[in-house]
Amino acid sequence: MTDNPIFEVDVLSRPSVAASSSQSDNDRYVTDITYTMNYKPEINPLLIDFSFLLAGLRAPSIKTACELGFGQGLSLNFHAAGSTISWYGNDFNLKHVLFAEELAKASGTNCLLSPQAFRAFCARDDLPDFDFICLHGIWSWIDDENRSIIVEFLQRKLKPGGVAYVSYNALPGMTDVMPIRKMLSEHASLANHDEGDLASKIENAIAFVEKFLAINPKLSSSFPHMMQRLNHIKKQPKQYLAHEYFNSDWKPVHFTDMKSVLEPAGLQFACSANLIDHFSDIYLDQDQIDFLNSIDDVSMRESMKDSIINQQFRADYWIKDPQPLSPADKDAALKAIRVVLVKDFEKMTPEFMTYMGTASLHQSVCDPILAVLSDYKPHSLHDIHQAVEALSLSIEQVLRVVAIFIAKEDLALANSDEVIEQVSHSCERINTYLLARGTIADDVNYMVSPLTGGGVLVPNIEQLYLVGRRRKLPDPVSWMKFAWDVNYSRIGGILGEEPGSTMPEDDFGDELKAHVHQWGGKKLPILLALKIK
Ligand SMILES: C[S@@+](CC[C@H](N)C(=O)[O-])C[C@H]1O[C@@H](n2cnc3c(N)ncnc32)[C@H](O)[C@@H]1O
Repeated sequence: MTDNPIFEVDVLSRPSVAASSSQSDNDRYVTDITYTMNYKPEINPLLIDFSFLLAGLRAPSIKTACELGFGQGLSLNFHAAGSTISWYGNDFNLKHVLFAEELAKASGTNCLLSPQAFRAFCARDDLPDFDFICLHGIWSWIDDENRSIIVEFLQRKLKPGGVAYVSYNALPGMTDVMPIRKMLSEHASLANHDEGDLASKIENAIAFVEKFLAINPKLSSSFPHMMQRLNHIKKQPKQYLAHEYFNSDWKPVHFTDMKSVLEPAGLQFACSANLIDHFSDIYLDQDQIDFLNSIDDVSMRESMKDSIINQQFRADYWIKDPQPLSPADKDAALKAIRVVLVKDFEKMTPEFMTYMGTASLHQSVCDPILAVLSDYKPHSLHDIHQAVEALSLSIEQVLRVVAIFIAKEDLALANSDEVIEQVSHSCERINTYLLARGTIADDVNYMVSPLTGGGVLVPNIEQLYLVGRRRKLPDPVSWMKFAWDVNYSRIGGILGEEPGSTMPEDDFGDELKAHVHQWGGKKLPILLALKIK
């Protein structure tokens, strides 16, 4: 969250958040440290059509959508600005809602953004029924009562055929984090000494667990990766740690338990929103595949797959009344779903990460497909398939390659030309706001593309180059000088690699010149193709 006084003034002029959320909710969930400025491509509605095509299911048309607990609201606002969908959402942290509202005002979209807690928001009688309800990073971090409120909301407000997206910390993969998390949160809340604010409590709690692990406790023999986990935790920003580990509630669950909770709301498991999950034949060996195939019950199979890969985090679509994809639906989906290259074509590699390590696509299959996309324009799956006809690839092979490059975030799903036209103005407005903000704060590292209807990584330094370019400064070196000046007046230098550090003045010149020339030659053309300027 920015320290800019403008936002603080807004906070004071708003009604107290206590008016709309219960005391117990605020007591249980961290509110004194705001959440990170995240963008989550997993909840871009465009991903539903593609995932459902892979799963052989008919995807609903999404007109109304709701994001519960939207955090800073970057994802919600990007998805609202970049689509024709009406978005609704809530988050009980008033600072989050104020920032989200700034973005909504900037883009001109009519989102309903409520500072109410789930209890009050889900009980409202003025909300429409939704085609899509999503909650990312919520389920494992709230109490049972709030989980019941959300299940009831899904049952009542999700339309027949509607899709729910729910992500959560999964078992068995999170088993060895459970004792660490318990020690961290208990140290922060129970330790009997004056430790100041939550940020210092987090630091002290981490130091405490580190000390504990150093005395060779027997617990480490049951969970040999605890130190590794703690070292990973130490590297995360406090904003993230506060929300991940320092709430009263932190509950990883098994897939089958999730199913038992959601089924009474009329929801059935549709498929994973993590595209790699759709290709277990790539990362499981034959014995593992045979073992899973011997299990009749679909959910038991899914759960045992989690145990094979030691699943730590699930992000799934659930649906009311799933319908299989007919041949006509499949044909329509192949023509309607489009993808666009969002990273440097020359840097594409066939390797990708799976749950079991690195895998690789056949170069002979992925090269021709990527070549079709090398113009940085959207292409339908149907057109890509036709364009590589000479190689006699099946449509399934094309889908597989495309899915893996989407999972790697090298490709993104793209809107239709008609939608791009309709949403370009709202995306341009939100980007203009973000660029102006980028000259006073460096915490938002994304901009929105009307092509992808979602966020694209544009770190602050690149945002400043774009501002320099917008100001018609003549060449990359002048954009770089502009970025230097802005950062100099803001923080006394250009940000170095270490958080909070600045590069010495002597060093920055050549390094930054090389950076801006590289950026101007390689990344800028991609951003312009994505209509980010
Ligand atoms: C871990 S953050 C995730 C934010 C966002 N969904 C994302 O993925 O970036 C959880 C969010 O849920 C909100 N939250 C937690 N409990 C809530 C409640 N009872 N009612 C409304 N919002 C709540 C918090 O303020 C926080 O912004």
